[in-house]
Amino acid sequence: MTNSTIKDRQQQLKESLIANGFKAAALNPGPDLTYFTGLDFHLMERPIIGIFPAEGTPVLILPELEQQKLSELDYNIRAFFYTEDQSGWQTVMNNALTEAGLKSGKLGVIPHRLRLLELKYLEEASPALDIVSAQPIISSLRMVKGDHEIELMQEASRIAECALTATLSAIKPGVTEKEIASKLVGRLLHHGSDPDLPFFPIVAFGPNSANPHAVPTTRELTSGDLVLIDWGANIEGYYSDITRTFAMGDIHPELEQIAEFVRKANAAGRSAVKAGVTASSVDQAARKVIEEAGYGEFFIHRTGHGLGREAHEEPYISQYNKTILKPGMTFTIEPGIYLPSRGGVRIEDDVVVTEDGCKSLTHQPRELIQLIFEE
Ligand code: CO
Ligand code: CO
Repeated sequence: MTNSTIKDRQQQLKESLIANGFKAAALNPGPDLTYFTGLDFHLMERPIIGIFPAEGTPVLILPELEQQKLSELDYNIRAFFYTEDQSGWQTVMNNALTEAGLKSGKLGVIPHRLRLLELKYLEEASPALDIVSAQPIISSLRMVKGDHEIELMQEASRIAECALTATLSAIKPGVTEKEIASKLVGRLLHHGSDPDLPFFPIVAFGPNSANPHAVPTTRELTSGDLVLIDWGANIEGYYSDITRTFAMGDIHPELEQIAEFVRKANAAGRSAVKAGVTASSVDQAARKVIEEAGYGEFFIHRTGHGLGREAHEEPYISQYNKTILKPGMTFTIEPGIYLPSRGGVRIEDDVVVTEDGCKSLTHQPRELIQLIFEE
């Protein structure tokens, strides 16, 4: 990632903070801090805080041992280092907030990221600050991806698809969900995914596939099972998240039928995507197909979620989200039908919004494919 992109992002953040009456945003390690600095820090017992004032240079508070990460930045940042002596940390925080000109006014944070650890230091340093959520501001900036971000997501999709293709021949009666999941993880890394996968793959056979968040077990595959696989790769912090469902040998005709309804719902969802429509209208388009087929009560989740640096981020493709889609937004389309104790089908694609439609980053066939095995 070029630093000019980082500079552009910091500039956009400033403009948005000013427009919304914020003095600054304070971010701790996670996808937001990485997005605005290009730097990766672990969330750990030592507090790290990036402060982005609406006016002036960003401030970073971090342990001395992380100093080297700042050696090649070509944008300005004012770094405040602390030592392993914890008794000095508050003083360093105080100095940093003074330098950032933060005595009062609105300080924006991400409520589901910032911990009590960082909050206490911030409150102690500037008791008059009004610490509030900056989530809408930050996510509206992050939701629309740039060309380079989309290229990375495209690569993460390509690698995930190669990894699955290389795993399919191992899927035969007698193997366990855990065995297939471990093979798939190996293939993901082998084909070039970064090791920090977006999530551990879901591999669910038969009745287990009726649980949308199934965890691989030692259940053995038998003929007549649905095989649901939900997996993704990571390229430089950008994710793919794909689901395909297969049939092991001959399956019950009703399971074949629901697979076809889900395929149509997925297609309807993707067709409904374009700039200017609401996220809820996309959910509605996919949901309608399943409802009209009589399986509405078995489609038990939203149609999709935003995807990028996080496996779940804005915009959520739910019936309640009135967010207007814009070109460059990226999210999943993943309708499903889950028949308790029998099996479930989900088909999940990753798409990018364009002016007049969407581009799918995922291309694996969506029809129910029957896995054939030789005795
Ligand atoms: Co998924
Ligand atoms: Co997903």
